[in-house]
Amino acid sequence: MKKETKLIRTQSKRSGNKEHSVPLYLTSSFMFDNAEHARSLFSDETEGNIYSRYSNPNTDEFISKMVALENTEDGFAFSSGMAAVFAGFAALLKAGDHILATRALFGSSYQILTNILPKWGIESTFIDSNSEDSWENDIRENTKMLFVESPSNPGLDIVDLEKSGALCKKYGLIFHVDNCFATPILQTPADFGADLISHSATKYIDGQGRVLGGVLVGKNNLINEIRYFARHTGPALSPFNAWLLSKSLETLPLRMEKHCSNAIILAEKLTENSEILSVKYPFLNSHPKYELAKNQMKFGGGIVTIEIRGDLGRINRFIDALELISRSSNLGDTRTIITHPASTTHSKLTENERSLVNITDQTIRISVGLEDVDDIYQDINNSLLKSK
Ligand SMILES: Cc1ncc(COP(=O)(O)O)c(C=O)c1O
Repeated sequence: MKKETKLIRTQSKRSGNKEHSVPLYLTSSFMFDNAEHARSLFSDETEGNIYSRYSNPNTDEFISKMVALENTEDGFAFSSGMAAVFAGFAALLKAGDHILATRALFGSSYQILTNILPKWGIESTFIDSNSEDSWENDIRENTKMLFVESPSNPGLDIVDLEKSGALCKKYGLIFHVDNCFATPILQTPADFGADLISHSATKYIDGQGRVLGGVLVGKNNLINEIRYFARHTGPALSPFNAWLLSKSLETLPLRMEKHCSNAIILAEKLTENSEILSVKYPFLNSHPKYELAKNQMKFGGGIVTIEIRGDLGRINRFIDALELISRSSNLGDTRTIITHPASTTHSKLTENERSLVNITDQTIRISVGLEDVDDIYQDINNSLLKSK
């Protein structure tokens, strides 16, 4: 089980006005005291803010909280989760390098690996999340990074982080984990040897469906390279979004606890429903990696993935009949959201690629919100009955 998170204090970003929240520094640039100050900031002889594409007190606050929560050394904040994931590859790899990645990934991550990085001579091999013991066979001379998502979107595959960390150590690979579904409240991959951790802050970290954001945290030497890459290519998080995300982190543990307690109750109820073909949730003992999930996560997460009986017409009728639950492609919101991955988030994959990661026309991803769980269940059950 994940250890308790530590207390975070961010007094340093406040002005002299004794404001309780860190003020919003909505500024694109910062002033220099004199010509010498400008010169010394640009030559890294003095620390300080120059321009918000480089740094800003609000993004610094957000980054330092994420670094502390993830038990890592340093970080950089991005305009979206995908900007963070992409920078984790683009800043650290070069033509001729090879990535080993679990096949069960968020759709856009899969697109980057299959269609974008190959244009620059970076290749990937996809491995099965459930067969860690054979991954070694796919390591090549030029393999530089292992990229995993755990739990995965939307199939909720669980990757053994300890085994992955040991493999990366043995072969000198950068161990990169997308920790979006778990958040640092449920698991801290750095404790298992992860060198780099990416997040879509758009999801649970904001948690209220308001802003896009992303962050990469990890080892100093890697973040230094990422910072150089990001400062000059420009995917910086806006100060306003950073301010919101920093405030959101104050309620992240409470929200995660409620998302997870609602999710397990819902998963158990859905298991009993005869209209449901399958229910996947990391803390249900029917999950193939239940024991591992219990060991490396504090709770089972806020996502439940189900398969509904019937053809695509029935699935569409079910989605259309929902009244309380939102039809949207986001997740991690206070409000429950239902997504049909095959026609939305994972629609760019071929049918064969989807079937390799168990996404069928019947698959529905439920991002369980903070509403009364009986109301959530009732909406699902009513829609199942109406769509028969
Ligand atoms: C696991 C995972 N990683 C990355 C992303 C991308 O995040 P963003 O939409 O903030 O770019 C998502 C989005 O759903 C996701 O689920």
